[in-house]
Amino acid sequence: MEKIALLENRRILLGVSGGIAAYKVCTLASRLAQAGAQVDVVMTEAATRFVTPLTFQSLTGRPVYTTMWGALDAALGEDAVLPTHVVHVGLAEAADLLVIAPATANTMAKLAHGLADNLLTALALAARCPTLLVPAMDVEMWAHAATQSNVATLRERGARLAGPARGRMASGLEGEGRMVEPEEILGHIRLVLGREGALAGRRVVVTAGPTREPIDPVRFVSNPSSGRQGFALAQAALDSGAEVTLVTGPTHLPTPVGAERVEVVTAQGMHDVVLATTGAADVLLMAAAVGDFRPETIASQKIKKGEHDLGVRMVRTPDILAAVAARWPDSGRPRVTVGFAAESENLPDNARAKLVAKNLDLIVANDITARDAGFAAETNRVVLLDRQGGLERLPLMSKAAVAEAVLERVVALLTAKEVIDGDA
Ligand code: C5P
Repeated sequence: MEKIALLENRRILLGVSGGIAAYKVCTLASRLAQAGAQVDVVMTEAATRFVTPLTFQSLTGRPVYTTMWGALDAALGEDAVLPTHVVHVGLAEAADLLVIAPATANTMAKLAHGLADNLLTALALAARCPTLLVPAMDVEMWAHAATQSNVATLRERGARLAGPARGRMASGLEGEGRMVEPEEILGHIRLVLGREGALAGRRVVVTAGPTREPIDPVRFVSNPSSGRQGFALAQAALDSGAEVTLVTGPTHLPTPVGAERVEVVTAQGMHDVVLATTGAADVLLMAAAVGDFRPETIASQKIKKGEHDLGVRMVRTPDILAAVAARWPDSGRPRVTVGFAAESENLPDNARAKLVAKNLDLIVANDITARDAGFAAETNRVVLLDRQGGLERLPLMSKAAVAEAVLERVVALLTAKEVIDGDA
């Protein structure tokens, strides 16, 4: 698992209260630590009945805190400067984010009423950083008026909630109260930590995935785009604090937490949504593999398989980037437009020609003949070309890392443009 720029060296206080969902929080702790965050786990006594402190200590590589009393000198390490009785203040002050997962009905009730009868609740009172609560409890406990009123109080005070989800409980009951999955919790953490990023208050439209052009009700023409690069770009834009609209062709990828997902099928459908949304956008990242051709007519019934071959006349689809450039020429919207070029030959020359023809600020080009890059691969090897003649070859990297690199350039381009336009 790899680093996430947003999380590197961020201090996350992970409070674990006593519910069976605690076992899933081990995955979260591990994921956060691998992403580069410094994770300090604080467990309630009940939580230690479900998972041992040693489990979290092993996953985070850091001491785990379970009590306000005794034995904390050892846990703090030799060079600790904190006297044990103010351990909660020290931990709370240093944190960038307090996440409580699972947050039980009992712990949330204590938080709502300002009780501080264990290290976790004392920390929550002392903390000034944002708080993310991840509730997990039985259906009836979640639905209870006391819990609902506590949650409302906590929300009013600024706490954010992730979930709960609907589903099967450990008790066998079905309903609302299940803790959301670790990947989704991670998405909420990224959303909170990214809020003050370089793109805070900016709108970014990202397109992703393939398009599908129907021949008849059961057949279509498409391409092998997985949508991964586009989804990674949407996540990177969210990490920078942007409001993100993700316009996607058919893919099964989960929506990055915080993005507004708009599903489309055909190139024409994507064209319509992009034109409707980019007028208010600061940035357009056109990562979708838009089909260039569609069948001229769509048969309304399934075409029967006969003796003869089938000839399908294909006609051009609209070029979305060309339509955007025509609608908002030069200094209009979006401020920064990034295109992607999948090339199988003459990569730099072809990409530069597209940069100019499509009126782009940046083009991200990849060689689709390489096995470890492009369409359905997990990794990508891209070349970035800009309008000033700059050409930068990035090494083979994950699509998430490519996305972070592209977003860095986007922030720089946006800043430069606004200084020039004089409306920074
Ligand atoms: O010309 P080519 O299709 O290779 O250009 C690729 C870039 O143009 C990508 O950013 C892609 O999303 C965009 N595109 C488009 N409309 C099309 C085809 C491609 O905006 N019909």
